[in-house]
Amino acid sequence: MLTEIDHVAIAVRDLDAAVTWYRNALGAEVEHRETVESDGVEEALLAVAESYVQLISPTRDDSPVAKFLDKRGEGLHHVGYRVPDCAAALEAMVQAGATPIDEVPRPGSRNTTIAFIHPKGSFGTLIELVEE
Ligand code: CO
Repeated sequence: MLTEIDHVAIAVRDLDAAVTWYRNALGAEVEHRETVESDGVEEALLAVAESYVQLISPTRDDSPVAKFLDKRGEGLHHVGYRVPDCAAALEAMVQAGATPIDEVPRPGSRNTTIAFIHPKGSFGTLIELVEE
């Protein structure tokens, strides 16, 4: 079902500062930057081989990422797994007992199709299924 780790998402308060730090400390360059207004998030994707580190920061105070930062602080936010068929993967996970956040797949950044699985019941980690 899983073809690759699509991205590891890290919540940060200052996206530009995080991008600069990742460039200086790890030599990682931004390959894509996008604001997803519906999620209240701005993201910067740094390429690591066939995967990405996705730095995310909130665009407004009431976005889920803003709430995450208030509650948990900066750090690991979710893991995105690349799948060939998001709807099929979501259904398989629900069949296996996972709790979906998205009942049906929806558009993500980079023209992907995505669905989130709740961390409760997934050993504490928010999971995103990503179909390119
Ligand atoms: Co993501």
